[in-house]
Amino acid sequence: MEKVIGIDLGTTNSCVAIVENGTPVVIPNRGGYKTTPSMVAVTEAGKRLVGHIAKRQAITNAENTVYAAKRLIGRKWNSPQVKNAVATSSYRIVEGPHNDVRIVLRDKEFSVPEISAMVLQEMKVIAEDYLGESVSKAVVTVPAYFNDNQRQATKDAGEIAGLDVIRIINEPTAAALSYGFGRNIEKTVAVYDFGGGTFDISILEIGAHGVFKVIATAGDTFLGGEDIDARIIDWLVSGFKEEHNIDLRQDRMALQRLKDAAEKAKCELSSVRETEVNLPFIISSGRNEALHLQRTLTRQTLEELSEDLVERTVDICKQTLEDAKLGKDEIEEVVLVGGMTRMPKIQSAVQAFFEKEPNKGVHPDEVVALGAAIQGAALVDDKQEMVLLDVTPHALGIMTFGSYFEELIPQNTTVPTHRTKIFTTSRDNQTAVKILVMQGESQRAEENELLGEFILTGLRRAPKGQVEIEVTFEINADGIVSVRAKDLETGLEQSIQVTATSGLTREEIKTMMDNAKDDLVDRRTTEEFEAAKQEAEKLIGEIEKLFPQVQQIVASSDFGRDAIEKARAIVEKARAAIERRDAAAVKEQIEGLTRTHRMFKGVVAKT
Ligand SMILES: Nc1ncnc2c1ncn2[C@@H]1O[C@H](COP(=O)(O)OP(=O)(O)OP(=O)(O)O)[C@@H](O)[C@H]1O
Ligand SMILES: [Mg+2]
Repeated sequence: MEKVIGIDLGTTNSCVAIVENGTPVVIPNRGGYKTTPSMVAVTEAGKRLVGHIAKRQAITNAENTVYAAKRLIGRKWNSPQVKNAVATSSYRIVEGPHNDVRIVLRDKEFSVPEISAMVLQEMKVIAEDYLGESVSKAVVTVPAYFNDNQRQATKDAGEIAGLDVIRIINEPTAAALSYGFGRNIEKTVAVYDFGGGTFDISILEIGAHGVFKVIATAGDTFLGGEDIDARIIDWLVSGFKEEHNIDLRQDRMALQRLKDAAEKAKCELSSVRETEVNLPFIISSGRNEALHLQRTLTRQTLEELSEDLVERTVDICKQTLEDAKLGKDEIEEVVLVGGMTRMPKIQSAVQAFFEKEPNKGVHPDEVVALGAAIQGAALVDDKQEMVLLDVTPHALGIMTFGSYFEELIPQNTTVPTHRTKIFTTSRDNQTAVKILVMQGESQRAEENELLGEFILTGLRRAPKGQVEIEVTFEINADGIVSVRAKDLETGLEQSIQVTATSGLTREEIKTMMDNAKDDLVDRRTTEEFEAAKQEAEKLIGEIEKLFPQVQQIVASSDFGRDAIEKARAIVEKARAAIERRDAAAVKEQIEGLTRTHRMFKGVVAKT
């Protein structure tokens, strides 16, 4: 059966898992870590770095290191979230060609799906190294509250990375799958997922025989550990300003150091009551004097700084319970997911709201990837008994006259689902009708997210009102929206032109995919070369050590001199191949080097 990996593409960390012999397991990366930072960098030499190596050089290469790209995926340039990111990020964010967002790394612009694709590709490589075979199918998770644009952009990222994303599933749902997997429980659970960038709450009914039914979901895709870090940074920056009248934000390197220190302090305060933030030589005073930042942060101050953020998650929980038409007492288990749920204040806020101790039995960093792997295995194995019924987090509708939002599919409807609506022409001989499709909860169209402009073209010429077009709005199991149209009288499918609002065009995706593939080939070639070089150099070293001895022993015979000549030639050829960085040629010489080394050892051993 074909192997399907599950990838949790996180704001801060990503994780990949697979089901092996019926058991879901997380795949460690080469460093042995089970999660990989979702960071991408380009070095001065133009080399791409992903994961831990990107994180390790973030401070010295702040401008060319991307973190939290997921907060930008599928967003429009003019959105408030993008404005926020532009103002606070240490890397450069610019406007793209479709009102979208591009990130500049060493003078080259990358789309956000391209950046996410680098992380996905890394996860693919981690899985391939572990499995020893290539992997092409994946289930990728997204925050439950992601809208269609964000889901579509994530799918594009998968495609750019060379992955066939067979399903997109919601992170809290994946967590619930992993929590309930193989336990045959019947329970109503709430999954509270507070990660680095996003917050989600989902309420599910887990039924016997592997039925997972989501009843309601909600969240905030711009609310996470990043925002709590930002509060600490603000606190540090304003304290420093008061003391020295210098704005640390002007300096990208200082900003990156602050970010690091803020996150570290936050994590420490989950286990201790106070911690010291210590950043020597953070900036120069301008009078050739280095300034240091040193401040004590207590858990209480952190809780005050982040109080409203925690409160926001609780408000969303309250709303979701109402949407699910359930009382707190009907929630039998609250499952905590995401790194932020290690913060004591968050645990106590959740406990106070649900009036029960939350379950900390699942691994907050790994459970989402495990759930994705479980879903992946179930999709390719028809013997698996598992039914997953998720919902759409946003209402789907269209813009009507007067800028109103007409809801067609309500929030929390089980997906896949569809809804049809008849449109008629309003003028004689009208040949085109434009439909603005949007997602959101507001009655005012402009407050919702525009998904696309669908233009029905080439309509029959007829007096107004006589052409009736049936339009079908569909949300598939990935939560992705599509629109089809049919002329009711002729029964003909009507063509629809979709104007991407912030997504990439097919051609762009194709080019980015080719680039990503080239990059992977380059990387594989480099790795292959490095491995061959290492092996060859080791052999050369040992041969050279033996040379003087061997020469002494065999130089008296013609045969011996000949053997030495040959050995020198092999070593020279290997050296030249290393010099040329020619992996195949180096590999070719390894056999000769091995033979020579064995012969030399034999000669020396005999005497
Ligand atoms: N011990 C801890 N105390 C407090 N916060 C922590 C701790 N450990 C990790 N975190 C925070 O958890 C966040 C990362 O969580 P996680 O890895 O679940 O997020 P993610 O999956 O990358 O993001 P998202 O799901 O939002 O896309 C970071 O903000 C990190 O600082
Ligand atoms: Mg997460």
